[in-house]
Amino acid sequence: MNGYAKKIEKTLKGSLSSDFWRVRAFDSLPSTNDFLREIASTEREGSVVVACTQTSGKGRQGRKFYSPDGGIYMSVLLKPAPELVPKITALTAVAVRQAIIEVTRKTPLIKWVNDLYLEDKKVAGILAESQASDGKVDYVIVGIGVNLYPSKGGFPDEIKDLAGTVESENGDKKAHLICAILDNLYRFLSGEEFVEIYRKESYLSGKNLKISTKNGEICGKFVEIDEDCRLVIDTENGAQKFFSGEVVKVGYDEKNC
Ligand code: BTN
Repeated sequence: MNGYAKKIEKTLKGSLSSDFWRVRAFDSLPSTNDFLREIASTEREGSVVVACTQTSGKGRQGRKFYSPDGGIYMSVLLKPAPELVPKITALTAVAVRQAIIEVTRKTPLIKWVNDLYLEDKKVAGILAESQASDGKVDYVIVGIGVNLYPSKGGFPDEIKDLAGTVESENGDKKAHLICAILDNLYRFLSGEEFVEIYRKESYLSGKNLKISTKNGEICGKFVEIDEDCRLVIDTENGAQKFFSGEVVKVGYDEKNC
């Protein structure tokens, strides 16, 4: 563990509002989600793994998540009630958003289903991976990646038009932001309302969208995020609701879908 990982552990020990979380921080890991999955069978709910960098950070749909040292990379082990499992990504998105507001005064919007956007750039992503047996979810590993500060050399070419950072200059808010993310997660896991924020603070409001689903691509105009955190769009075949999927295009001219 280098000095910074140690500092994160120490700061969190003295600052977290609940003893639900047990945090381990590392200089570098391949992926905090993979690390936590490897040890999950002997860990209790509330285990947290933080890494200052990741060498094989994972995003959704098998993509890589660029993980240089300006960011926050963390995974938490949760055993949510069955009815909360489908909303765990939404809950986490709201917790990360609220934490960013508290610590940086920046106000990102939520791009259904799992991204946070600031000034039309992606600044955070969430990857929830569940482990089930006998038709029941044993645990969920929720991975959170936040591009907090710019890294030397900037983003790689393939994501430089899409990705942004929460702060434009380096600073010392990393441990504080991790702490705020965990405090907010705990609040919402304990029953505090989050769905209304998820619905209201959508990056997609009012926009034309193209959604990629396992049954192909569908175009339509944003209607709402409903009370079950589903995306509702108005298509040429009427309103359609999505529990999962990926918004691949935002805000294009209707005729060019
Ligand atoms: C996405 O944007 O598609 C989701 C990105 C999730 C990245 C986080 S970083 C911490 C955790 N470990 C990983 O390998 N991925 C998640």
